[in-house]
Amino acid sequence: MKAQLEEIRTRALGELSDEADEAQIEAVRVRVLGRSGELTEIMRRMREVPPAEKPLVGRLVNEIKNEVEARIAQLVEHRRREALSRSLAEARLDVTLPGLRMPRGWSHPLTQTRERMLEIFEAMGFEVVETQDLEDDFHNFGALNFPPDHPAREMQDTFFLPGGMLLRTHTSNGQIRVMERRSPPLAIVCPGNCYRRDELSVRASPMFSQIEGFMVDRAGVISMAHLKGVIAEFLRAFFGPDTGVRFRASFFPFTEPSAEVDISCLLCKGAGCRVCKQSGWTEILGSGMIHPNVLRAVGYDPMQYAGFAFGMGIERTSLLKLGVDDMRLFFENDLRFLAQFRAGEAAS
Ligand code: PHE
Repeated sequence: MKAQLEEIRTRALGELSDEADEAQIEAVRVRVLGRSGELTEIMRRMREVPPAEKPLVGRLVNEIKNEVEARIAQLVEHRRREALSRSLAEARLDVTLPGLRMPRGWSHPLTQTRERMLEIFEAMGFEVVETQDLEDDFHNFGALNFPPDHPAREMQDTFFLPGGMLLRTHTSNGQIRVMERRSPPLAIVCPGNCYRRDELSVRASPMFSQIEGFMVDRAGVISMAHLKGVIAEFLRAFFGPDTGVRFRASFFPFTEPSAEVDISCLLCKGAGCRVCKQSGWTEILGSGMIHPNVLRAVGYDPMQYAGFAFGMGIERTSLLKLGVDDMRLFFENDLRFLAQFRAGEAAS
């Protein structure tokens, strides 16, 4: 029986090698230590052992049992450590690796231009008010003194919508919207999108943006001199202190008198070149004293109040400022174009 026990021990420990996997370990445990395992079987056959040998066999059974248990515990512990260090190695974080750089965005050049323009007007005391793109005939035309059959209504080539609404053709609706609900004195700028039935081309786009400005105060207090002062101040702040500014008589239904404003050509500085068609000047905005009929339309008495207004295109202003020669570039959003303005070039 002693020999049999030694055999059990040798076999078990032989099978419990360092390489033994979980299933092998379990198989040895069941076979040797299990309820109907080899050692249990030996204990059951104790009766057959001569009394003198019993203590010896008993001790040997215990010894083998302890030894096999200890070996199994050792192997299990060993595998547990191995699994732990494997998972730690997998989850290892190398804090010296370079980080993932998130590309930093920047404002669209048109946004930069608009913000810079508004900033200048705000510094002069103007308040920014946004009004609606979706308009009715009254606020886009009627109140602005366009008679029903006025050719400007077609000239503007409006997008009319079902139900009699339209997409505003200019930001001048902002004058009406603001004056209708507020009283003078007013100094307001209204930025916003405008729409006209134009094909997208080098010079035009069916959607573009303008800034409308107007100032209203008591008649006699406000004059064409204020209009000239505000506009010249704005243009020199925006385009540079040496910019030439010229007022030319013009016509708009909603202003009287009206003036178009030119700046000296930014390219040739007034000498005459291809861009300004040798004139030395470039048209930049429309302006004038608010027509008495417009004041009446919003319930202001033209004997008591007077004002001036002006409007200019943001795309056009950007084109001139940045020396860009194709309006479409602003709408195509090609990053090679936009990236030229990532440092805020259109706002400085
Ligand atoms: N609304 C005119 C345009 O779109 C610009 C303008 C505004 C002219 C205010 C005079 C006064 O061309």
